[in-house]
Amino acid sequence: MSRSQRVYAWFDDRLDLDEAEQFMGKAFPAEDSFLLGEVALFSFVMLVLTGIFLGFFYEPSTTEMTYEGSVAQFQGESLPAAFGSVLQLTYDVPFGMFIRRFHHWAAHLFVASIGLHMLRVFFHGAYRNPREINWVVGTTLAILAMGAAYTGYALPFDEFASTATGIGYNIAGSIPILGDPIAAIVFGGDFPSSATIPRLYFLHVFVIPILIAGGLALHMGLLVRQKHTEAQREDDVKPVDSGTAEAAADRNRETVDREDDSVVVGLPAFPNQTAVSAVVFFLTLATLSALAGFLPVHNIAEYGPNNPAGTPALIMPDWFFMWLYGFLKVLPSSLGFHLGPIEISAEFLGGVALPSLVFLAVFAWPFIDRRRDSVHFTADPFERPVQTGVGVAGVVFVMIASIAGMNNLLAEALGTTTGAVNLPLLLAMIVGPIAAFGVVHRAISRERTTADTAAQPDGDDRTEPPEVTDDE
Ligand code: HEM
Repeated sequence: MSRSQRVYAWFDDRLDLDEAEQFMGKAFPAEDSFLLGEVALFSFVMLVLTGIFLGFFYEPSTTEMTYEGSVAQFQGESLPAAFGSVLQLTYDVPFGMFIRRFHHWAAHLFVASIGLHMLRVFFHGAYRNPREINWVVGTTLAILAMGAAYTGYALPFDEFASTATGIGYNIAGSIPILGDPIAAIVFGGDFPSSATIPRLYFLHVFVIPILIAGGLALHMGLLVRQKHTEAQREDDVKPVDSGTAEAAADRNRETVDREDDSVVVGLPAFPNQTAVSAVVFFLTLATLSALAGFLPVHNIAEYGPNNPAGTPALIMPDWFFMWLYGFLKVLPSSLGFHLGPIEISAEFLGGVALPSLVFLAVFAWPFIDRRRDSVHFTADPFERPVQTGVGVAGVVFVMIASIAGMNNLLAEALGTTTGAVNLPLLLAMIVGPIAAFGVVHRAISRERTTADTAAQPDGDDRTEPPEVTDDE
């Protein structure tokens, strides 16, 4: 027995590696869009690694310190430690600026890839029985990712970021009855108070990442347990004959029937899928390095430390919060009302009630579009007028709401006031998605009718309705 075999046998005795080997042979369907989830996963890994680096230098405190770093305009000044430490980190710690930018862009890529991954799962119908639970876990992960971004945004304690995150404090405070306790727990009472930064820091570096890591373990565990969905096969799948020894062994395997949903056809997890994933990992790393190298992020030296007396001219949340900000901007304050002694403010309706309804609809979707039997194959979005229509309507809704979040820029571009654009934006948020649904539904239904008519022998003109699939 060679030394490497002895080492293998040592581990095998203890860990039953033969069984693990079987797991490594699990098939992973070779579909490019399935790699979006991996991009999200790798972005999270990079966020944790870069976050650890930043944690060595960041000071989660608003206590004043004398700044002695290299930014001339603040030298010798007394600054809140959080702000001063981020200045130090950016301009005096070797690679500090690069890692800070990397962390920033990884957060953006994390949220973007989660959004795209979610759309991929939606349009492929991969949320259907038995994967409803994983859809619910995934939606929770999406909310947690936004929570991580929000709490991180506040940490440099500069004038811009703390004013923007203060909007969240006001929204939390607007929740009837629970508002004050929630604001006290999350923000430590008033915003910003000396307790705010330590609270948000603890949430950002401990509570939320642990919840995300736990959620991810569950997400991946369910994925392995339930197997991955697979695109419809065009034909029966014959064993590959590439002339290698493995292929010779493969030849003894049976052909997989086109309809057989008890097995997944794809690349073995090891080594093939691992090699693909490694490429995705390094591409993610390279993309983030390029972004961090070339694109600056939030310039805190320009904004200066938080100043309770001042308000920056333009407050903008990150792009992924823009749709929520849009709700706040276009809902008129006159919508608020009283339920006995309880105030239901427009801020609560736009900042809490409406977003909660949106997320509730997302959570509930697999139970609305439900299946009695489990499905293994992904659906073709061009075969599902209702579901694809709903998906496109959802995207249009979020896009119009995001434009509403930038109503001031729109008004400026049109040479008018924000008041003048708010009502059209509110109407567009209602009419736009309905119109999008109508157009998509009609286009797909018509396409399917044409395809079904063309498929009939001799192009005869029988007027039977198109075949209804189980996706209807
Ligand atoms: C932290 C965020 C997330 C990460 C890192 C992540 C990662 C992944 C990965 C790597 C896969 C397998 C490859 C693939 O199908 O893309 C997957 C599958 C899946 N994800 Fe996620 N995901 C996240 C969030 C979400 C969200 C927001 C949803 C939906 C609301 C979701 C629903 C699903 C479902 C249903 C599957 C199974 C898909 C299938 O079998 O075709 N995930 N996820």
